[in-house]
Formats: sequence, C-alpha cells, structure tokens
Amino acid sequence: MPVTILDHPLAADLLAILRSKDTQPPEFRQITERLGYLLVAEALADMTTVDVEIETPLERTSGRQLRRPVVAVAVLRAGLGLLESVLTLVPDAAIGFAGVQRNEETAEPIEYYTRFPALSTARVLILEPMLATGGSLSWAIDKAKENGAKDITAVCVVTAPEGLAVIEERHPDVRIVAAALDRELNTSYYIAPGLGDMGDRLFGTP
Ligand code: URA
Repeated sequence: MPVTILDHPLAADLLAILRSKDTQPPEFRQITERLGYLLVAEALADMTTVDVEIETPLERTSGRQLRRPVVAVAVLRAGLGLLESVLTLVPDAAIGFAGVQRNEETAEPIEYYTRFPALSTARVLILEPMLATGGSLSWAIDKAKENGAKDITAVCVVTAPEGLAVIEERHPDVRIVAAALDRELNTSYYIAPGLGDMGDRLFGTP
C-alpha cells in the first residue's frame, strides 16, 4: 500500500494551525481547504494525460490534459472539509457521498447514506481527513469497490499507525496521501496528538 506523507513546509504550516485548539471553525475550514489543495495535487500527481494542440496568442503549441475522470467521495461529515479543494482544482469532478457514523463505544462504522457517481473508469479520491481506526475508510473503500471503483486514493489530513495497518491489510491496492502520521490512537479512538474531532472543529458542533 503506497503511503505518501506530504513533506512540504506549506503543509506543515497549515497543519500546525489545524492542530491548535484555539483555531475556530471559520479559520479551521479555510485552512483545511488550503491544505486540501496540496493533498489533492499530490493525489493526482501520477494521473495520465493526453497531448492536445493549443493556439496561444503567439503560435501553435502542444499541451497536456487530464484523460480520465476524477471522482471525489466525501466520507460524511468531515470529508466535506476537503470537497471544495477537489472542486476548485478539478471543477468537473463528480462527487459521491459515503455517510457513516462511528459507534462511539466500539468505533465500528454505521452506514446511513451512500450515493456514488460512475466509478469504474475514474480516479476515485476518498476524502477521509482522520484515518483513525480505519473502520470508516475501509467501509467506504468496500462500498466504492462494490460500485466498480478500481483506482482509489484516500486523501487524509492526519493518520494513525493503527488505521494505516488496517487499510494495508484489507486494501493493499489503495494509495494513501496524508499530511501527517501521528503517534497513536488513544483509548477513546482519537488520534494523538491529532487535532480533535475534525467534524466538530469544521462545523462548530460541541
Ligand atoms: N475522527 C476525528 O475527527 N478525530 C480523531 O482523532 C479520530 C477520528
């Protein structure tokens, strides 16, 4: 399972703001979106392109364009924080939603809504900012594969070793791009040091 942890001063700077408990939801959303640009760019770095002819104001030249469709699947609700980054960089990306809630005692995923566009020929980016136990991401990958996805990259902000191990075991074909690999999960299944509950911090819920 290829794992890329961004090694970029801009990403480190943005992540430090997200980690701070003093960062309030409006800034938290903005910084997540900015970090998302770096993550999504990395997640698409190996996309194939086709050569196209272009007329500049000066002369004819050639350029390259993305060949395959891009689909983003936001794992609700924290995945919504990265959606705008995908849509800004790839405005014609189709969007799917994977609604999964975690049982707060067992951390097992509970499905409440899924909706996918066509996945079989697309680069599918699964937006799951906090890869903690790996339960939700593994569930979303299962669903995407059941719906035909063959080329999947998970886009995460923070990962935990426990979650990476689960994805490695269940989905060794899935690539992971993240901004950080943290120390561990705590006994409440939160990533430490982490940044807290991503959904709460994005949307201001207590
Ligand atoms: N989900 C979060 O939002 N934060 C964590 O630390 C773990 C899972």
